[in-house]
Amino acid sequence: MKRIIYFSSGIVFLCSCVLALEEKVELSKMDKFRPGDLWLDTSGKPIQAHGGGIILRDDAYYWYGEDRTPGQKTSVSCYSSKDLYNWKFEGTAFRQDDLAAEIKANTFIERPKVIYNAKTKKYVLWMHIEQQGYHFARAGIATSDKPMGPFEFVSYLRPIKYEFDFPAPDPDRQKEFGGTYRDMNLFVDDDGIAYVIYASEHNATLYMVRLNDEYTAPLKPIVDDATWSRVLVGKYREAPAPFKYKDKYYLISSGCTGWTPNAADISMSDNIFGSWQSKGNPCIDDGAELTFRTQSTCVLPVAGKTGCYIYMGDSWNPRRLSDSRYIWLPFKFDDNGNIEIKWLDEWDLSYFD
Ligand code: DGJ
Repeated sequence: MKRIIYFSSGIVFLCSCVLALEEKVELSKMDKFRPGDLWLDTSGKPIQAHGGGIILRDDAYYWYGEDRTPGQKTSVSCYSSKDLYNWKFEGTAFRQDDLAAEIKANTFIERPKVIYNAKTKKYVLWMHIEQQGYHFARAGIATSDKPMGPFEFVSYLRPIKYEFDFPAPDPDRQKEFGGTYRDMNLFVDDDGIAYVIYASEHNATLYMVRLNDEYTAPLKPIVDDATWSRVLVGKYREAPAPFKYKDKYYLISSGCTGWTPNAADISMSDNIFGSWQSKGNPCIDDGAELTFRTQSTCVLPVAGKTGCYIYMGDSWNPRRLSDSRYIWLPFKFDDNGNIEIKWLDEWDLSYFD
């Protein structure tokens, strides 16, 4: 009798394990993008990778972004995926606590991006490090041997000092420290040369700056219009998302309205340093005027599909930043070299077939 009881409770235990496993598999397995829906990682937790970017290494994608989990300081998260739909949390790649001791106290991290340096075999992280009031406005740089980190802090700086028409008085202290460094992105060109692009001059103008061979600082000596340039001067664009197609450079950006959405712009240039020409809002149809309530963070080229890209945007929830949603939308260049981004409730990668 005792044996039968043991045997049947064993079966019940086994069945519940199988059920639990099945539930988990069902929870994590996705084969579609559903823009704006709550997006769970493979363990069932909401993905925390806001203002982020994605790299492809060998056959895996790595998604880095702001972990805005309430009650903790913003850190840089890392997720991995083989298919872009299902993301496994790989851990915290960089903790706020890993910043230099003298700036740690009141500093937070925004818009982290990572690129891989084939020469040094290091993953290089750049981020906007900020303090309340948004006057600190520095770049933070860290490196790691592994994609998931941990990243080791290298330095913080304002990359470019340039005499433009500084406001007086200037709470950003740009004459003293250099132009502000806020919303940012990284771009590695086909020749392996990397650039950082960021909102400077109190967000009035974007700066495109060539990096050194290690990708850890601006290339020196710094020469105007040769190692760096001012982009979309005085246009107040932020959230830069650069990409390249057929030897031309493209840049999707937002206006400067804080967490509130506004109209996107796409600009184009034959040369990375300019001159950049705006081609207007790439979004069409309902919701286009507010970029479907998103702000650009990155444009991901679709592997193996020339001219095909994924627009990655954040739909910010300023009252609860951790619940800001991810809006990914596909786009392709047409025969005339134009793109259109439109809203889709649901889509998958067969869109690009
Ligand atoms: C807009 C930027 O794009 C965000 O990253 C963030 O810095 C907010 N401004 C803060 O208001």
